Amino acid sequence: MKRMLSGIKPTGQLTLGNYIGALRNFVKYQDDYEMIVFIANLHCITEYQDPEELRRNLTDAVALYIACGLDPKKATIFLQTDVHAHAELGYIMACNTYLGELNRMTQFKDKSQKGEKNMTAGLYTYPCLMAADILLYDANYVPVGEDQKQHVELTRDLAQRFNNKYGDTFVVPEPLIAQVGARIMSLSDPSKKMSKSEESNKGCIYLLDDLKAARKKIMSAVTDSIGIIQLDKENQPGLYNLIEIGSALTGRSMEDIVKEFEGQGYGKLKGFVADAVCDELAMIQERYNQIIESRQIEEVLSDGAARASAIADKTLENVKKKIGLEIKYQ
Ligand code: TYM
Repeated sequence: MKRMLSGIKPTGQLTLGNYIGALRNFVKYQDDYEMIVFIANLHCITEYQDPEELRRNLTDAVALYIACGLDPKKATIFLQTDVHAHAELGYIMACNTYLGELNRMTQFKDKSQKGEKNMTAGLYTYPCLMAADILLYDANYVPVGEDQKQHVELTRDLAQRFNNKYGDTFVVPEPLIAQVGARIMSLSDPSKKMSKSEESNKGCIYLLDDLKAARKKIMSAVTDSIGIIQLDKENQPGLYNLIEIGSALTGRSMEDIVKEFEGQGYGKLKGFVADAVCDELAMIQERYNQIIESRQIEEVLSDGAARASAIADKTLENVKKKIGLEIKYQ
């Protein structure tokens, strides 16, 4: 069975973008692949997080993984800091990464171009840690949204570089990006990705949003004044995004949705998308509440960490041997 690995960084509440672009795909793949999914808590602290809030977001993220359909018996679910090998291999990967490569990473570039002050060294070397996250597990595939593709490509380069220097060590992973929903846009500004770090909450739907609030966000999503329901991503990005969300959640093709709503007003289409979103959120939230009450999270995480450590520790040992970091006592 091929292995798949991915993670989410809960710097805030998980979003509909996380769900459509990543989480629901983990669920789809868990029967056919050996699935390893972790909570990237080390990645959260590249910027200051309120400790109480961070703890709550981490717990919610685990509960939401399960609520969205990940089965802890099939998938290995764990917290990044519970497997120490991540931080250690992260440092080793940083020693095999060139500054030029990190300077080219879009996330870092965007932030520095915006003139953000006090950017941390952790933010800069983040892609090295992400490479370690993946390479520790010999993952064949990494299911992610489009924004993470560049990071997985760097991971491939680093794996190949290491293999060339030290001999075959790492499996070179491939990013797996869904055809529909790999980049869900903000509802209030469809030129930007839907993201938990958005300043106003209007453009972002959170999986734990109150259903009425979620419906309102969809119904007041920014569209255009063209007034025709069709697939024109360039001139009608807001409309396209809504149709994509509807398609991802109902499994119907985008063309099929356009056919149904052709010639009608945007309001009708928005109502359809809002129903699809609210049905999905209602189901997720019901299970989320049960999981929080059942107090199974600790057990899931300790079981997951044991399984993950067994794989990761072996890889790290091998890496250290290859580099010459170990002294062998006779
Ligand atoms: P993060 O937490 O930003 O996002 C988690 C996953 O959700 C996807 N995603 C989206 N997909 C579609 N539309 C959107 N608007 C949207 N927003 C987010 C992301 O592409 C991602 O797949 N660096 C990673 C976490 C990470 C990781 C890893 C992932 C750390 N180590 C190793 C894979 C493998 C991140 O910040 O994702």
